[in-house]
Amino acid sequence: MARFTLPRDLYHGKGALEALKSFKGEKAMVCVGGGSMKKFGFLDRIVGYLKEAGMQVELFEGIEPDPSVETVMKGAAAMDKFQPDWIIAVGGGSPIDAAKAIWIKYEYPDITFEEMCKVFGIPPLRRKARFCAISSTSGTATEVTAFSIITDYEKGIKYPIADFEITPDVAIVDPELAETMPKKLVAHTGMDAITHAVEAYVSTAHCDYTDPLALHAIKMIENDLVGSYNGDMEKRDSMHNAQCLAGMAFSNALLGIVHSMAHKTGAVFADHGAHIIHGAANAMYLPKVIAFNAKNEEAAKRYGEIADFMQLGGETLEEKIKLLIAYLRKMNEDLNIPHCIKNYGADSYPCEQGFVPENVFLERLHDIAVNALGDACTGSNPRQPSVEEMEKLLKCCYYDTEVDF
Ligand SMILES: NC(=O)c1ccc[n+]([C@@H]2O[C@H](COP(=O)([O-])OP(=O)(O)OC[C@H]3O[C@@H](n4cnc5c(N)ncnc54)[C@H](O)[C@@H]3O)[C@@H](O)[C@H]2O)c1
Ligand SMILES: [Zn+2]
Repeated sequence: MARFTLPRDLYHGKGALEALKSFKGEKAMVCVGGGSMKKFGFLDRIVGYLKEAGMQVELFEGIEPDPSVETVMKGAAAMDKFQPDWIIAVGGGSPIDAAKAIWIKYEYPDITFEEMCKVFGIPPLRRKARFCAISSTSGTATEVTAFSIITDYEKGIKYPIADFEITPDVAIVDPELAETMPKKLVAHTGMDAITHAVEAYVSTAHCDYTDPLALHAIKMIENDLVGSYNGDMEKRDSMHNAQCLAGMAFSNALLGIVHSMAHKTGAVFADHGAHIIHGAANAMYLPKVIAFNAKNEEAAKRYGEIADFMQLGGETLEEKIKLLIAYLRKMNEDLNIPHCIKNYGADSYPCEQGFVPENVFLERLHDIAVNALGDACTGSNPRQPSVEEMEKLLKCCYYDTEVDF
């Protein structure tokens, strides 16, 4: 038996934000990030609509990018004080993910962070509050997914919380919110989205319900991401839907080792000034992982299907996979994202010698490989790497060398 879960309601298109006016409830807590939603006037509109719906509103502000366990605990304390029956999370993946974890802690005050991280181990929610997610970036699709990513900065590790209990009740996908994204954010979140769709399509948990969502998302991202990056607002709007479709696919088909590696490298070099942004990490690792996974016959066939659907050409399966890899690398170049960790420099732009020195990378390589293998996303990858293979793969992602094993 398999399960396919999405939010009960999804409001999309320009003006979708106004759906908040029709919400029924007493008290709404709005969880939001560091200021972009306030600056562009969306926060005021959200609070206004909720008040129009007759609700008392309180804010939990200042949720940082890649939210920490500490922020989750702080948010839970604020929520416990206010006792909302609606949680409204708005922003990029970070505030929405933090709000999901805060929600768990609000409903179960005694639960520990370790207990939250047990895959599909969250007890029933919605005893105290329902959850609405409003996305302002076009990548994580956390507004429709069963995931939340919280960073333990003491360990330098990102932990995915995974359970359909945290799939939001309502998602609002209003493209107006995405129009204010700076270019770099468009690039990173867009590459995150295509990684979601590709990993979902080749995942061992994919099914007839997830495949069409993944393929359609890939096609849309192929058509729209670079244009959106270059300022085409129609394409920007379309990307907001594309990333959400990719999310619907991967929330139900799960992901693979691109994400395992991104989760375990994202914060581990923070002491060297390198926060490897999630989408940029995925963008660098995806072509390498495709080459690795393609040694698995079934995965190779499915990458070939993706290449065909994208109309990339190629006669043999091998050619099609090569063209897919080349296409994704070209996207990175068009979006000004480096090909490898070694060249990951300031502001995540490519440079000769990036933040992460070779000796530091090599010192930490073994632990990163072990942690990546233990990540919740590894289980559904079509080819299971050994620790040795994972180390080799990570090295290819550091030096941008060919994957030939
Ligand atoms: N839950 C999931 O299913 C899932 C999937 C993939 C990634 N993630 C996680 O999500 C996080 C990344 O989320 P993200 O990429 O959406 O970025 P983010 O939420 O971390 O936001 C990044 C920055 O962009 C700003 N911002 C957000 N929206 C904006 C807008 N419309 N205009 C201008 N500025 C805006 C924010 O203020 C912030 O400074 C990572 O922690 C990642 O691990 C979660
Ligand atoms: Zn992702």
